[in-house]
Amino acid sequence: MANILVTGGAGFIGSHTCVELLNAGHDIVVVDNFSNSKPEALKRIKAITGKDFKFYELDILELDKMDKVFKENSIDAVIHFAGLKAVGESVEKPVEYYHNNITGTLMLIKAMRQNGCKRIVFSSSATVYGVDNPVPYVETMPTHTSTNPYGYTKVMIEQILTDVCASDPEWSVSLLRYFNPIGAHKSGLLGEDPNGIPNNLFPYIAQVAVGKREFLGVFGNDYDTPDGTGVRDYIHVMDLANGHLCAVDYVLEHKGVEAVNLGTGKGSSVFDVLHAFEKACGRELPYRILPRRAGDIAWCYANTDKAKEVFGWTAKYGLDEMAEDGWNFTKNNPDGL
Ligand code: NAD
Ligand code: WQD
Repeated sequence: MANILVTGGAGFIGSHTCVELLNAGHDIVVVDNFSNSKPEALKRIKAITGKDFKFYELDILELDKMDKVFKENSIDAVIHFAGLKAVGESVEKPVEYYHNNITGTLMLIKAMRQNGCKRIVFSSSATVYGVDNPVPYVETMPTHTSTNPYGYTKVMIEQILTDVCASDPEWSVSLLRYFNPIGAHKSGLLGEDPNGIPNNLFPYIAQVAVGKREFLGVFGNDYDTPDGTGVRDYIHVMDLANGHLCAVDYVLEHKGVEAVNLGTGKGSSVFDVLHAFEKACGRELPYRILPRRAGDIAWCYANTDKAKEVFGWTAKYGLDEMAEDGWNFTKNNPDGL
């Protein structure tokens, strides 16, 4: 069993992954500045697992403090979730996004290098496939364009980590390209808790279901898709968390860099997600058709062969379970964590 540093471990995907790491018997050290999360998430990880872990409230940009974290703990590998992730906000605040995500990652790499830790699992995104590649997305496709600064931070960080590996063959890097993570832990104690008006489909529907928003705005019903709405590869956050366990095992035993898609390989439309949620909460939810959202594409789903081959991992859960678990969390926590 290993000692894993988890940056951004209080966030949505990080907190669920911490649960799975602890359940698998790993030790974890969590770093977060709570810029988009709450301390309550850490309490809930402990409540679910019955296990304790070290936590540092700090910003990964602070190299001295990050260096101290490595000096005080013998870290075998890092899972790097910490980053800002709102696509629209990144268009408004590109400098803040590039600084937090890219400089933050550079500081983390420096702290790792100073302490001889050379294994990292990075939270990348399907957004690196840009707008020109055909679906399903395969890891070998070109990834050098994006539609927004957030997406470019992922493209650039993938490049930086690839270059680090090329410069030093001792490094081991896993670039995990997540598709659309939704759902929640089965306990109903952990889930997605966005600040303000949700940007993403699933938490928006959840807020309509608890009466916080009047209706779902469907961004376009004239795409070239079966029902005219955008198609995405939604993946249960617990499946995603499990993918990280595989990636950690992989970087502990291999060197070099691998990009791996974490998706289900199955596309679902906006109406598919809405109907699954309606089934879970037992009533119809109001929606209105709105114009397309800038930067959206019609189709996005993964080819999942490489995850199966390299990690022996496949997603287990379908849309119904994602909706049931997401609703269970929202109904138990209507005001979030
Ligand atoms: P999140 O916002 O819930 O979690 C990110 C965490 O990082 C938060 O707890 C935040 O407080 C922390 N953080 C941000 N900047 C930090 C800094 N400078 N120092 C310390 N902590 C910092 O987001 P999430 O949905 O859990 O996403 C985790 C990662 O996965 C992100 O890198 C995101 O870009 C990536 N990702 C997310 C999705 C998605 O749809 N949720 C899809 C693809 C990739
Ligand atoms: C899904 C579908 C919308 C909200 C984003 C990022 C991506 C990744 C995952 C981090 C689309 C439609 C949405 C709403 C709607 N994140 N929609 N009404 O855009 O696929 O991906 O999150 O890396 O980089 O871009 O996810 O949940 O915003 O949208 O109709 O209120 O739902 O048009 O078809 P998206 P999403």
